[in-house]
Amino acid sequence: MGEAMRHHWLLLGACGWVLLILMFVSKFISFRAVDDYGERVGGQSWTVPGTKVVRPIPVSSPVKPAPQPSDQVTNAADYTPVYLCNNTSFIHISVMSVCQPSAVPTGADWQPVVERRVELLSAVCKNSSLGNLTHAAISKFVLDRIFVCDKHKILFCQTPKVGNTQWKKVLIVLNGAFPSVEEIPENLVHDHEKNGLPRLSSLTPQEITHRLSTYFKFFIVRDPFERLISAFKDKFVKNPRFEPWYKHDIAPAIIRKYRKIHRDSDLAASGLHFEDFVRYLGDAEGRQRMDRQFGEHIIHWVTYAELCAPCEIHYSVVGHHETLEQDAPHILKAAGIDGMVSYPAIPPGITRYNRTKVEQYFSGISKRDVRRLYARYQGDFQLFGYPSPDFLLN
Ligand SMILES: *[C@@H]1O[C@H](CO)[C@@H](O)[C@H](O)[C@H]1NC(C)=O
Ligand SMILES: *[C@@H]1O[C@H](CO)[C@@H](O)[C@H](O)[C@H]1NC(C)=O
Ligand SMILES: *[C@@H]1O[C@H](CO)[C@@H](O)[C@H](O)[C@H]1NC(C)=O
Repeated sequence: MGEAMRHHWLLLGACGWVLLILMFVSKFISFRAVDDYGERVGGQSWTVPGTKVVRPIPVSSPVKPAPQPSDQVTNAADYTPVYLCNNTSFIHISVMSVCQPSAVPTGADWQPVVERRVELLSAVCKNSSLGNLTHAAISKFVLDRIFVCDKHKILFCQTPKVGNTQWKKVLIVLNGAFPSVEEIPENLVHDHEKNGLPRLSSLTPQEITHRLSTYFKFFIVRDPFERLISAFKDKFVKNPRFEPWYKHDIAPAIIRKYRKIHRDSDLAASGLHFEDFVRYLGDAEGRQRMDRQFGEHIIHWVTYAELCAPCEIHYSVVGHHETLEQDAPHILKAAGIDGMVSYPAIPPGITRYNRTKVEQYFSGISKRDVRRLYARYQGDFQLFGYPSPDFLLN
């Protein structure tokens, strides 16, 4: 015990020293921090933290000013622990409090993070043991999810609950139907007859193939369980746009099949519980017939793999909601539209992963149901480098 403590303190001291030296060196060269740690890959663990937290790029690279801590950096640092430090509390503390400023890349330094995501995605796609959890045909369902901006050669796959309305607005403006994001009426954003934002499915097979192979393609993901919570809240609790079918058709069908004890008088009155929803989602085979009846509405909870076929379509960038402050400007730049339009302001804290909330929602749910749910969404966790939620599974 005492030995372990001493070891920790020594490592902490070493980390401090390395940082002091690097802070000095950073005045002369730029860092390519975190590119190894922008994502957590599988069960990878840290063995030599002090020496691997930051790594200067070779001196031969172009000289750039060191990244300055800014608001953006602080926000990003708030969620990096999810990706960086999920193994031991020691690492967590050292990254949070000591190594933070130089460990968070911005601007040009974001490119390596994005590249690693694409590499991870293609590695996981090749893992045949995940088979049908990661692969999906480029069906009409997928082509319906992808919006086309021909003017700037961009394809955007819609993943609901991940800031999609904002991206659609950006593309509607780029397509020229409206002069600015503010001028698009809210009810038109999702009206694809009128908003000048065609779906890929509306084109001919040749046109589709051409666009898939030459356009800039992107979509955004977030932690899969947080996404499900958000979908549940939005569609079955708040239902802000008044979409009555969730309450009147979908909820009763799920309750009838998945609530352990129900009386018919419950169906309308009590509403869907998160527990019912989790059971339904975890039942891969049993829910297939229901899902066909639910039609398009299932886009709010089917996997990212089913929505966007990321193993079949070679997306240029996959943004993460948790790091949207970095990803949004990076995507605009990579797509060559950063001078023309900007992503609407992101309210502080809104994109941050909230483990407390996840724990609250899952607190009454049996391990068996959580594990089934995870089995169903495991592909999404692995494809996009989200750590498996061990605090719920074990
Ligand atoms: C493939 O996926 C399985 C299941 O998650 C995992 O245990 C295994 O390590 C993966 N293999 C590779 C080569 O990534
Ligand atoms: C994947 O395929 C296997 C057999 O082919 C099947 O048993 C399993 O239920 C499938 N999983 C999902 C999530 O569809
Ligand atoms: C996280 O979620 C909990 C429970 O929903 C909420 O009380 C808390 O304010 C949230 N934290 C943040 C930082 O948003």
